[in-house]
Amino acid sequence: MVPTLEFKSGALLLLDQRVLPHTVTFVSVQTARACAEAIRDMAVRGAPAIGCAAAYGLALGAFEAAREGSAEAQEGVFQAAHEVLANSRPTAVNLRWALERLSKLRARLVVEGMPAGQIAERLLAEAHAVTEEDLASCKAIGQHGAPLVPDGKGILTHCNAGGLATAGYGTALGVVRAVVASGKQCPVFADETRPWLQGARLTTWELLQDGIPVTLLPDVAAPSLLRSGKIGCVIVGADRIAANGDVANKVGTYGVALAAHAHGVPVMVAAPWSTIDLRAKDGRDIPIEERPSTEVTHVGKARIAAEGVSVFNPAFDVTPAALVSYIVTERGVARAPFSDSLAAQGRLG
Ligand code: MRU
Repeated sequence: MVPTLEFKSGALLLLDQRVLPHTVTFVSVQTARACAEAIRDMAVRGAPAIGCAAAYGLALGAFEAAREGSAEAQEGVFQAAHEVLANSRPTAVNLRWALERLSKLRARLVVEGMPAGQIAERLLAEAHAVTEEDLASCKAIGQHGAPLVPDGKGILTHCNAGGLATAGYGTALGVVRAVVASGKQCPVFADETRPWLQGARLTTWELLQDGIPVTLLPDVAAPSLLRSGKIGCVIVGADRIAANGDVANKVGTYGVALAAHAHGVPVMVAAPWSTIDLRAKDGRDIPIEERPSTEVTHVGKARIAAEGVSVFNPAFDVTPAALVSYIVTERGVARAPFSDSLAAQGRLG
């Protein structure tokens, strides 16, 4: 598969997800600020991939800091890099997690007296580690999740929680890949995911690239598909999971989960541990990003809505824990009551 992100010759190369599937091109990022812009503008998207990109972005910030003369100036440049990255997208907690991981490491190295240039190299190595660990987590999630998926029935997914949204392999689509590899017969259905069309543009592209057949449906068709009895499991990713198991994911997930619950279809949430936010008690503690109105008023460059209309465009919604059957991380399968099962997985770290 085409890599989602790659660090080469001093630059972070991001597969530009704004122009997929028609154009495969990379954005080259050489500063923390450029990385933050690429995250905000969704050249790279998906919570784990955002975390990996932010780690590289902060490493780039450390190289920028190392070019300053005084320790004070170095600190200022690094903290500005941290801030601009932290503010790029608010919901995916993997962003904060990755920035905190690298910042804590830097603080320790500064106290130890390591020169700024070496610190930057060390942070770059840490960004590589974040990325490699994410790939390994996705594979483990696939192994834990696949046995829970009933053979002979379909899988419905929403948004893109695939290789494109992670360092590779995917979370929800990681489970799909593991299901396919296990030989189970589970046709895959993908919601188109208005308004940004991650399902139509990204999920279908990445599955077809892998030779996995997929049926695309408009979001509004999901409830009747779930009622039809064709679906054995809904599998989605997450942007942040609170301590009680409330799940923030792409807007529309809540509606899919409600319909699944009404028709007795289990809902699996697949995410790396870096998406669990035990500091958020429940969904009310999760900030929900609102995105530009043009994402709703326009399709591509073409305006479809009347001039002057006001728009509500939350990028995510919160699915209450009561609608979630399993939360699958690299640490295993959590079931209700999630406050206990997630706390137990937390102790494994
Ligand atoms: O706005 P996006 O495209 O970044 O939203 C992505 C999602 O909501 C994904 O489902 C989630 O990040 C999980 S990705 C493994």
